[in-house]
Amino acid sequence: MALAIPVPTESLAGEKVARAVRAGLTAQPKCLPPWLFYDEAGSRLFEEITELPEYYLTRTEHSILARNAAEILARASAGERLRIAELGAGSAAKTRLLLAAAAEQQGSLLYEPIDISMTALLLAQAHIEREIPGVRVRPFAMDYTNGFRLDSPYPGERRLLLYIGSSIGNFEPEESARILGKMRAQLQPADSLLLGVDLVKDEAALLRAYDDAAGVTAAFNKNLLIRLNREMGADFEPDAFAHRVVWNRTRSRIEMHLESLAGQRVHIAALDLTLDFRCGETIHTENSYKYSQGQAEQMLTRAGFAPAACWTDPRAWFAVWLGVAS
Ligand code: AVJ
Repeated sequence: MALAIPVPTESLAGEKVARAVRAGLTAQPKCLPPWLFYDEAGSRLFEEITELPEYYLTRTEHSILARNAAEILARASAGERLRIAELGAGSAAKTRLLLAAAAEQQGSLLYEPIDISMTALLLAQAHIEREIPGVRVRPFAMDYTNGFRLDSPYPGERRLLLYIGSSIGNFEPEESARILGKMRAQLQPADSLLLGVDLVKDEAALLRAYDDAAGVTAAFNKNLLIRLNREMGADFEPDAFAHRVVWNRTRSRIEMHLESLAGQRVHIAALDLTLDFRCGETIHTENSYKYSQGQAEQMLTRAGFAPAACWTDPRAWFAVWLGVAS
Protein backbone atom coordinates (compact mmCIF):
# COMPACT_ATOMS: atom_id res chain seq x y z
CA MET A 1 0.00 0.00 0.00
CA ALA A 2 1.30 3.41 -0.90
CA LEU A 3 1.77 5.73 2.02
CA ALA A 4 1.15 9.43 1.63
CA ILE A 5 4.09 11.10 3.26
CA PRO A 6 3.44 14.75 3.91
CA VAL A 7 6.37 16.83 2.70
CA PRO A 8 6.58 20.38 4.01
CA THR A 9 6.28 22.69 1.00
CA GLU A 10 9.14 24.73 2.38
CA SER A 11 11.61 21.89 1.96
CA LEU A 12 10.25 21.22 -1.52
CA ALA A 13 10.93 24.86 -2.34
CA GLY A 14 14.38 24.50 -0.77
CA GLU A 15 15.03 21.46 -2.97
CA LYS A 16 14.11 23.42 -6.07
CA VAL A 17 16.46 26.25 -5.09
CA ALA A 18 19.29 23.81 -4.28
CA ARG A 19 18.94 22.02 -7.63
CA ALA A 20 18.88 25.27 -9.59
CA VAL A 21 21.86 26.73 -7.73
CA ARG A 22 23.98 23.60 -8.20
CA ALA A 23 23.11 23.33 -11.89
CA GLY A 24 23.74 27.04 -12.55
CA LEU A 25 26.96 27.50 -10.63
CA THR A 26 28.61 24.31 -11.91
CA ALA A 27 27.72 25.26 -15.51
CA GLN A 28 30.20 27.03 -17.77
CA PRO A 29 29.64 29.99 -17.97
CA LYS A 30 28.05 30.23 -14.51
CA CYS A 31 24.42 31.33 -14.30
CA LEU A 32 21.47 31.54 -11.90
CA PRO A 33 17.76 31.61 -12.88
CA PRO A 34 15.98 34.97 -12.47
CA TRP A 35 13.10 33.55 -10.41
CA LEU A 36 15.65 33.29 -7.59
CA PHE A 37 15.58 37.09 -7.26
CA TYR A 38 12.20 37.10 -5.59
CA ASP A 39 12.69 36.30 -1.92
CA GLU A 40 11.17 38.81 0.48
CA ALA A 41 13.99 41.37 0.14
CA GLY A 42 14.16 40.84 -3.63
CA SER A 43 10.42 41.33 -4.07
CA ARG A 44 10.66 44.57 -2.10
CA LEU A 45 13.61 45.71 -4.23
CA PHE A 46 11.68 44.90 -7.40
CA GLU A 47 8.78 47.07 -6.22
CA GLU A 48 11.34 49.85 -5.72
CA ILE A 49 12.73 49.30 -9.22
CA THR A 50 9.27 49.82 -10.73
CA GLU A 51 9.24 53.32 -9.23
CA LEU A 52 12.70 54.38 -10.46
CA PRO A 53 12.82 57.26 -12.98
CA GLU A 54 15.00 55.13 -15.32
CA TYR A 55 12.76 52.06 -15.18
CA TYR A 56 10.19 53.14 -17.78
CA LEU A 57 8.50 49.72 -18.20
CA THR A 58 5.93 49.70 -15.39
CA ARG A 59 5.04 53.36 -15.73
CA THR A 60 4.70 53.18 -19.51
CA GLU A 61 2.58 50.04 -19.52
CA HIS A 62 0.39 51.51 -16.80
CA SER A 63 -0.22 54.65 -18.86
CA ILE A 64 -1.09 52.52 -21.91
CA LEU A 65 -3.59 50.49 -19.88
CA ALA A 66 -5.05 53.61 -18.26
CA ARG A 67 -5.54 55.41 -21.55
CA ASN A 68 -7.04 52.44 -23.36
CA ALA A 69 -8.84 50.38 -20.71
CA ALA A 70 -12.31 50.90 -22.20
CA GLU A 71 -11.22 49.98 -25.71
CA ILE A 72 -9.22 46.95 -24.52
CA LEU A 73 -12.22 45.61 -22.65
CA ALA A 74 -14.62 46.34 -25.50
CA ARG A 75 -12.39 44.45 -27.95
CA ALA A 76 -11.92 41.52 -25.61
CA SER A 77 -15.58 41.16 -24.65
CA ALA A 78 -17.16 41.89 -28.04
CA GLY A 79 -20.46 42.39 -26.25
CA GLU A 80 -20.27 39.28 -24.01
CA ARG A 81 -19.52 39.11 -20.28
CA LEU A 82 -15.84 38.97 -19.41
CA ARG A 83 -13.95 36.88 -16.90
CA ILE A 84 -10.37 37.97 -16.25
CA ALA A 85 -7.44 35.70 -15.34
CA GLU A 86 -3.85 36.81 -14.87
CA LEU A 87 -0.57 34.92 -14.98
CA GLY A 88 2.16 36.10 -12.61
CA ALA A 89 -0.30 38.48 -11.00
CA GLY A 90 1.81 39.27 -7.93
CA SER A 91 0.29 42.23 -6.13
CA ALA A 92 -1.92 42.93 -9.18
CA ALA A 93 -1.14 46.65 -8.86
CA LYS A 94 -1.24 47.25 -12.60
CA THR A 95 -4.38 45.21 -13.06
CA ARG A 96 -6.63 47.20 -10.80
CA LEU A 97 -7.68 49.79 -13.33
CA LEU A 98 -8.74 47.12 -15.81
CA LEU A 99 -10.67 45.30 -13.09
CA ALA A 100 -12.41 48.48 -11.98
CA ALA A 101 -13.36 49.36 -15.55
CA ALA A 102 -14.67 45.84 -16.26
CA ALA A 103 -16.65 45.65 -13.02
CA GLU A 104 -18.23 48.99 -13.75
CA GLN A 105 -19.12 48.00 -17.29
CA GLN A 106 -20.80 44.71 -16.45
CA GLY A 107 -21.79 45.15 -12.79
CA SER A 108 -19.61 42.37 -11.41
CA LEU A 109 -16.46 40.50 -12.35
CA LEU A 110 -14.65 37.30 -11.50
CA TYR A 111 -10.88 37.78 -11.32
CA GLU A 112 -8.60 34.73 -11.21
CA PRO A 113 -5.00 35.70 -10.45
CA ILE A 114 -2.34 33.00 -10.79
CA ASP A 115 1.00 33.43 -9.07
CA ILE A 116 3.68 31.34 -7.43
CA SER A 117 3.34 33.32 -4.19
CA MET A 118 0.15 32.65 -2.18
CA THR A 119 1.18 35.49 0.16
CA ALA A 120 1.12 37.99 -2.70
CA LEU A 121 -2.20 36.56 -3.93
CA LEU A 122 -3.95 36.82 -0.57
CA LEU A 123 -2.76 40.40 -0.12
CA ALA A 124 -3.98 41.26 -3.61
CA GLN A 125 -7.33 39.58 -2.92
CA ALA A 126 -7.86 41.53 0.30
CA HIS A 127 -7.01 44.85 -1.33
CA ILE A 128 -9.05 44.30 -4.46
CA GLU A 129 -12.18 42.99 -2.74
CA ARG A 130 -12.03 45.92 -0.32
CA GLU A 131 -11.33 48.61 -2.88
CA ILE A 132 -13.06 47.63 -6.11
CA PRO A 133 -16.77 47.02 -5.68
CA GLY A 134 -18.16 44.16 -7.74
CA VAL A 135 -14.91 42.20 -8.14
CA ARG A 136 -14.72 38.71 -6.68
CA VAL A 137 -11.20 37.28 -6.50
CA ARG A 138 -10.42 33.58 -6.84
CA PRO A 139 -6.65 33.12 -6.44
CA PHE A 140 -4.60 30.13 -7.62
CA ALA A 141 -1.08 29.53 -6.29
CA MET A 142 1.01 27.75 -8.89
CA ASP A 143 4.15 27.95 -10.96
CA TYR A 144 2.59 28.60 -14.36
CA THR A 145 5.87 27.94 -16.20
CA ASN A 146 5.28 24.24 -15.49
CA GLY A 147 1.88 24.48 -17.13
CA PHE A 148 -1.42 25.63 -15.69
CA ARG A 149 -5.12 24.92 -16.01
CA LEU A 150 -8.10 27.20 -16.16
CA ASP A 151 -11.44 25.60 -15.30
CA SER A 152 -14.05 25.10 -17.99
CA PRO A 153 -15.63 28.22 -19.44
CA TYR A 154 -19.02 29.54 -18.33
CA PRO A 155 -21.49 29.69 -21.19
CA GLY A 156 -21.94 33.25 -22.42
CA GLU A 157 -18.65 34.43 -20.94
CA ARG A 158 -15.40 35.28 -22.64
CA ARG A 159 -12.14 34.95 -20.93
CA LEU A 160 -9.45 37.61 -20.99
CA LEU A 161 -6.06 36.29 -19.91
CA LEU A 162 -3.54 38.91 -18.83
CA TYR A 163 0.17 38.39 -19.22
CA ILE A 164 1.52 41.87 -18.70
CA GLY A 165 4.55 43.58 -17.13
CA SER A 166 6.97 42.22 -19.77
CA SER A 167 7.09 38.96 -17.79
CA ILE A 168 7.54 37.16 -21.12
CA GLY A 169 10.89 38.97 -21.45
CA ASN A 170 12.63 36.58 -19.05
CA PHE A 171 12.12 33.59 -21.34
CA GLU A 172 14.16 32.38 -24.29
CA PRO A 173 12.21 32.82 -27.53
CA GLU A 174 11.47 29.06 -27.73
CA GLU A 175 10.28 29.02 -24.12
CA SER A 176 8.05 32.04 -24.79
CA ALA A 177 6.51 30.26 -27.75
CA ARG A 178 5.87 27.21 -25.56
CA ILE A 179 4.27 29.26 -22.78
CA LEU A 180 2.03 31.18 -25.19
CA GLY A 181 1.01 27.84 -26.68
CA LYS A 182 0.01 26.60 -23.23
CA MET A 183 -2.06 29.75 -22.74
CA ARG A 184 -3.80 29.19 -26.06
CA ALA A 185 -4.55 25.59 -25.08
CA GLN A 186 -6.43 26.78 -21.98
CA LEU A 187 -8.61 29.20 -23.94
CA GLN A 188 -11.63 28.79 -26.22
CA PRO A 189 -11.92 30.42 -29.64
CA ALA A 190 -12.85 34.14 -29.18
CA ASP A 191 -11.23 34.28 -25.71
CA SER A 192 -8.27 36.63 -25.67
CA LEU A 193 -4.81 37.26 -24.34
CA LEU A 194 -3.47 40.67 -23.35
CA LEU A 195 0.31 40.60 -23.65
CA GLY A 196 2.69 43.34 -22.43
CA VAL A 197 6.02 43.42 -24.29
CA ASP A 198 8.98 45.72 -23.92
CA LEU A 199 10.17 47.06 -27.28
CA VAL A 200 13.67 47.46 -28.71
CA LYS A 201 14.85 51.04 -28.27
CA ASP A 202 18.07 52.97 -28.07
CA GLU A 203 20.78 51.22 -26.14
CA ALA A 204 21.44 54.02 -23.65
CA ALA A 205 17.83 54.04 -22.44
CA LEU A 206 17.87 50.26 -22.06
CA LEU A 207 21.13 50.26 -20.11
CA ARG A 208 19.91 53.03 -17.79
CA ALA A 209 16.74 51.10 -16.98
CA TYR A 210 18.80 48.16 -15.71
CA ASP A 211 21.65 50.13 -14.15
CA ASP A 212 19.96 52.97 -12.29
CA ALA A 213 21.80 55.84 -10.65
CA ALA A 214 20.51 55.00 -7.16
CA GLY A 215 21.88 51.45 -7.40
CA VAL A 216 18.59 49.72 -6.66
CA THR A 217 18.98 47.26 -9.55
CA ALA A 218 22.54 46.53 -8.43
CA ALA A 219 21.21 45.74 -4.94
CA PHE A 220 18.47 43.56 -6.50
CA ASN A 221 21.12 41.61 -8.44
CA LYS A 222 23.48 41.21 -5.48
CA ASN A 223 20.63 40.17 -3.22
CA LEU A 224 20.95 36.78 -4.93
CA LEU A 225 24.29 36.29 -3.20
CA ILE A 226 22.90 37.42 0.15
CA ARG A 227 20.06 34.94 -0.33
CA LEU A 228 22.48 32.07 -1.03
CA ASN A 229 24.53 33.01 2.03
CA ARG A 230 21.43 32.90 4.22
CA GLU A 231 19.57 29.93 2.74
CA MET A 232 22.47 27.70 1.72
CA GLY A 233 25.25 28.61 4.08
CA ALA A 234 27.32 30.15 1.27
CA ASP A 235 30.13 32.60 2.00
CA PHE A 236 29.81 35.02 -0.93
CA GLU A 237 31.27 38.46 -0.29
CA PRO A 238 28.65 40.58 -2.11
CA ASP A 239 31.02 43.54 -2.41
CA ALA A 240 33.55 41.37 -4.24
CA PHE A 241 31.06 41.21 -7.14
CA ALA A 242 29.89 44.04 -9.39
CA HIS A 243 26.53 44.53 -11.09
CA ARG A 244 27.07 44.39 -14.87
CA VAL A 245 24.52 45.13 -17.57
CA VAL A 246 25.01 44.30 -21.25
CA TRP A 247 22.81 44.97 -24.27
CA ASN A 248 23.16 41.85 -26.43
CA ARG A 249 22.07 43.26 -29.77
CA THR A 250 22.29 40.00 -31.71
CA ARG A 251 19.92 38.24 -29.33
CA SER A 252 17.90 41.39 -28.60
CA ARG A 253 18.19 41.11 -24.86
CA ILE A 254 19.45 42.96 -21.82
CA GLU A 255 21.69 40.69 -19.76
CA MET A 256 22.45 41.12 -16.08
CA HIS A 257 25.58 39.59 -14.63
CA LEU A 258 27.50 39.54 -11.35
CA GLU A 259 31.17 40.01 -12.12
CA SER A 260 33.83 38.73 -9.76
CA LEU A 261 36.20 41.62 -8.96
CA ALA A 262 39.02 39.26 -7.94
CA GLY A 263 40.12 35.68 -8.18
CA GLN A 264 38.22 34.10 -5.30
CA ARG A 265 36.92 30.87 -3.83
CA VAL A 266 33.37 30.49 -2.49
CA HIS A 267 31.95 27.62 -0.49
CA ILE A 268 28.29 26.64 -0.42
CA ALA A 269 27.81 24.50 2.69
CA ALA A 270 24.33 23.13 1.91
CA LEU A 271 25.59 21.81 -1.45
CA ASP A 272 29.02 20.79 -0.18
CA LEU A 273 30.28 22.74 -3.19
CA THR A 274 33.43 24.82 -3.63
CA LEU A 275 33.55 27.31 -6.52
CA ASP A 276 36.49 29.14 -8.01
CA PHE A 277 36.02 32.47 -9.72
CA ARG A 278 38.54 34.07 -12.05
CA CYS A 279 38.90 37.83 -11.83
CA GLY A 280 36.32 39.18 -14.32
CA GLU A 281 34.34 35.92 -14.47
CA THR A 282 30.58 36.47 -14.31
CA ILE A 283 27.43 34.78 -13.10
CA HIS A 284 24.72 35.42 -15.71
CA THR A 285 21.64 36.21 -13.63
CA GLU A 286 18.97 37.46 -16.04
CA ASN A 287 17.92 37.95 -19.63
CA SER A 288 15.27 40.49 -20.48
CA TYR A 289 14.26 40.11 -24.12
CA LYS A 290 13.12 43.14 -26.08
CA TYR A 291 10.86 42.70 -29.09
CA SER A 292 10.10 44.54 -32.29
CA GLN A 293 6.42 45.01 -33.08
CA GLY A 294 6.80 42.52 -35.92
CA GLN A 295 8.33 39.85 -33.66
CA ALA A 296 5.61 40.32 -31.05
CA GLU A 297 2.93 39.94 -33.68
CA GLN A 298 4.59 36.85 -35.12
CA MET A 299 4.95 35.28 -31.68
CA LEU A 300 1.19 35.69 -31.09
CA THR A 301 0.23 34.36 -34.50
CA ARG A 302 2.44 31.29 -34.17
CA ALA A 303 0.83 30.47 -30.81
CA GLY A 304 -2.66 30.53 -32.33
CA PHE A 305 -3.77 34.06 -31.56
CA ALA A 306 -5.02 36.52 -34.15
CA PRO A 307 -3.30 39.82 -33.32
CA ALA A 308 -6.43 41.95 -32.97
CA ALA A 309 -5.07 45.25 -31.68
CA CYS A 310 -1.98 46.86 -30.26
CA TRP A 311 -1.60 49.90 -28.07
CA THR A 312 1.63 51.71 -27.43
CA ASP A 313 2.99 54.95 -25.92
CA PRO A 314 4.03 58.08 -27.86
CA ARG A 315 7.71 57.00 -27.87
CA ALA A 316 6.79 53.41 -28.84
CA TRP A 317 8.84 52.04 -25.94
CA PHE A 318 6.32 49.47 -24.75
CA ALA A 319 3.45 47.62 -26.41
CA VAL A 320 0.27 45.98 -25.19
CA TRP A 321 -1.11 43.43 -27.66
CA LEU A 322 -4.52 41.83 -27.74
CA GLY A 323 -4.53 38.41 -29.36
CA VAL A 324 -7.82 36.65 -29.97
CA ALA A 325 -7.73 32.85 -29.80
CA SER A 326 -8.33 31.65 -33.32
C1 AVJ B 1 9.98 41.40 -14.03
C2 AVJ B 1 11.16 40.37 -15.83
C3 AVJ B 1 9.79 42.27 -16.25
O1 AVJ B 1 13.05 42.21 -17.03
O2 AVJ B 1 12.49 44.26 -16.61
C4 AVJ B 1 13.85 44.55 -13.57
C5 AVJ B 1 12.85 42.19 -13.99
N1 AVJ B 1 15.21 42.91 -13.66
N2 AVJ B 1 15.09 45.02 -13.37
C6 AVJ B 1 12.52 43.07 -16.31
C7 AVJ B 1 13.94 43.20 -13.75
C8 AVJ B 1 15.92 44.03 -13.40
C9 AVJ B 1 11.82 42.63 -15.01
N3 AVJ B 1 10.72 41.65 -15.27
